[in-house]
Amino acid sequence: EKGGYPWFMLKEIEEQPQAVADTLRGRLGDQGEILLDEVRLTDQDLRDVDKIFIVACGTAYHAGLVAKYAIEHWTRIPCEVELASEFRYRDPVLDRSTLVVAISQSGETMDTLMALRHAKDQKARVLAICNTNGSTIPRESDAVLYTHGGPEIAVASTKAFLTQVAACFLVGLHLAQVRGVKFADEVGAIVDQLQAMPGLIKRVLSTMDGVRELGRSLASQSTFIFLGRHVGYPIALEGALKLKELAYVHAEGFAAGELKHGPIALISEGTPVVAVVPSPAGRGFLHDKVVSNIQEVRARGAMTIVIAEEGDEAVVPYADHLIRVPRTPTLLAPLVTTVPLQVLAASIADARGHDVDQPRNLAKSVTVE
Ligand code: F6R
Repeated sequence: EKGGYPWFMLKEIEEQPQAVADTLRGRLGDQGEILLDEVRLTDQDLRDVDKIFIVACGTAYHAGLVAKYAIEHWTRIPCEVELASEFRYRDPVLDRSTLVVAISQSGETMDTLMALRHAKDQKARVLAICNTNGSTIPRESDAVLYTHGGPEIAVASTKAFLTQVAACFLVGLHLAQVRGVKFADEVGAIVDQLQAMPGLIKRVLSTMDGVRELGRSLASQSTFIFLGRHVGYPIALEGALKLKELAYVHAEGFAAGELKHGPIALISEGTPVVAVVPSPAGRGFLHDKVVSNIQEVRARGAMTIVIAEEGDEAVVPYADHLIRVPRTPTLLAPLVTTVPLQVLAASIADARGHDVDQPRNLAKSVTVE
């Protein structure tokens, strides 16, 4: 059943190119149009949206954080992302023109379900992004976009995350098109770039031997810091979460710019710091900022593990370990930069002798609040 892999999680990591292709399948038209006919919200409903809230938990929340950057950039609709467990208890401002997007692999997460019920009570429209057909969250939502990632058995979420991110991209592009924002002309180019992502994820997967070896060599470390900026920030959070839940190692993700506001005090000789570096093309200023953050931690003794694009030479002098990913547009990069972090966490956990599929204290779907 594990298809020759020692763990379901490793199988599910390898399935990611297919899973993302399945999320995109049939939803990208030849003319660059995004076909989401199955989403039962009319174009008029979507034109009326003046605010978006994304609610989710854990890894799905990180997918929501990535989505915020893309959705706001493409649609110019304000978009907030909130932990589902916090959302309903703070009396959020919601009405008929608010779109609440609930992201859940299982479709049964109680915190997310309660958040969506609260949103519906306030007359907001609810769109579910979900992997499990017919589960409670899509049944109670006004509309659903299934991720079609296939069953995820390992407790730690991997392919569900990438498919949630891809589905959020579809929602953002669809909204942009329906609303005819200025950006709509560029959708065609982004659609082509999105179509290329499964192939790029596959390429990353074919280069993971070094990451597995690195994981084994880091297995006795007791704390890790993950840094990112822009869409790399949620990926830093996700990398830290994977490591905590699988390896039971203390790990924290930070926005790279926050370092100097406190966390840099954590760095001592040999502290492993994993940095997700944005593409030097496009938004070059983001790239340069992260490179200088890497220099700052290294000057204080950190051991730097740098995830950077092929051809990015500026990082080379500051990387104790360098993990390469293919060139992608900045917003789409999470679909490739997440993969080495999943592999790293799994190999550290395996080297520490843990059950990678069934981490202690965790359940696949959390049906209590
Ligand atoms: C982390 C993980 C959890 C889930 C979270 C939400 O690897 O699996 O953080 O992402 O419990 O679950 P769903 O997506 O089923 O609502």
